[in-house]
Amino acid sequence: MMRIWVNGGLRNADDARLSVLDHGLTVGDGIFETVRTSEGRPFALTRHLDRLTRSARGLGLPDPDHDEIRHAVAAVVEANPVPLGRLRITCTGGPSPLGSDRGTDGPSLVVALDGVDRRPDSTAVITVPWTRNERGALVGLKTTSYAENVVALARARERGASEALFPNTADRLCEGTGSNVFVVLDGRIHTPPVASGCLAGITRALTVEWTGAEETDLPMDVLAEADEVFLTSTLRDVQAVHRIDDRALTPEVGPVTAKAMRIFAERADDDLDP
Ligand SMILES: Cc1ncc(COP(=O)(O)O)c(C=O)c1O
Repeated sequence: MMRIWVNGGLRNADDARLSVLDHGLTVGDGIFETVRTSEGRPFALTRHLDRLTRSARGLGLPDPDHDEIRHAVAAVVEANPVPLGRLRITCTGGPSPLGSDRGTDGPSLVVALDGVDRRPDSTAVITVPWTRNERGALVGLKTTSYAENVVALARARERGASEALFPNTADRLCEGTGSNVFVVLDGRIHTPPVASGCLAGITRALTVEWTGAEETDLPMDVLAEADEVFLTSTLRDVQAVHRIDDRALTPEVGPVTAKAMRIFAERADDDLDP
């Protein structure tokens, strides 16, 4: 049975509990990180903890204690051996009144790990009409208020796709429900800037650093013209896109994307905490 860290210790999954009055449950007042583990080793944990702190500050939650979380991560990884894992670190507002005011009992911390399969090298995506709000209070924060992503991803699954891409309110290309997007135009790699309202993805930042991709404000309809399109995220690394709505891209993994995948795999193998 999965062993989960909850507020100071490991519990069996069926005994791992938070209050039903936890603000994470009642209003989505929480933040999280998803970290990839390979053979029990977390990838880029320092960057993930730094982003967790930025998200906490954005929501006005207390700064997460990195030493405590590293200790919890080590305990969870040891208790749940899997070849490839999705490690999830969640901090919430803790027990609170029923409305949007946060309680005073202090935050909750949950760390859990589940095994995952390696993603395919390429995938299908759809576009959705709903917008990311580049001027919203939560922009750039990785919060547990993810129900819009639930709706968009369900739409993608209905259409045989694994991701949904959002425009922002100005109809510029933004990001997916849980990934960043890159396009190849005339041999050069571009990705929307953080100002588009996307999450500052860790895989995105490493891909920009390692491939020389440019941050470019892009119209949504660049997806109809791009020579290649790929996604980045913690569990996808770099993943080619072979279909966008009704547009098929051939080959399934284009040459520029294939090179980015290779570079990412090599560099990530060389340094577990870049
Ligand atoms: C909305 C959103 N955009 C992008 C990403 C990709 O970020 P990362 O590469 O840090 O996993 C994620 C997280 O997985 C996300 O939730």
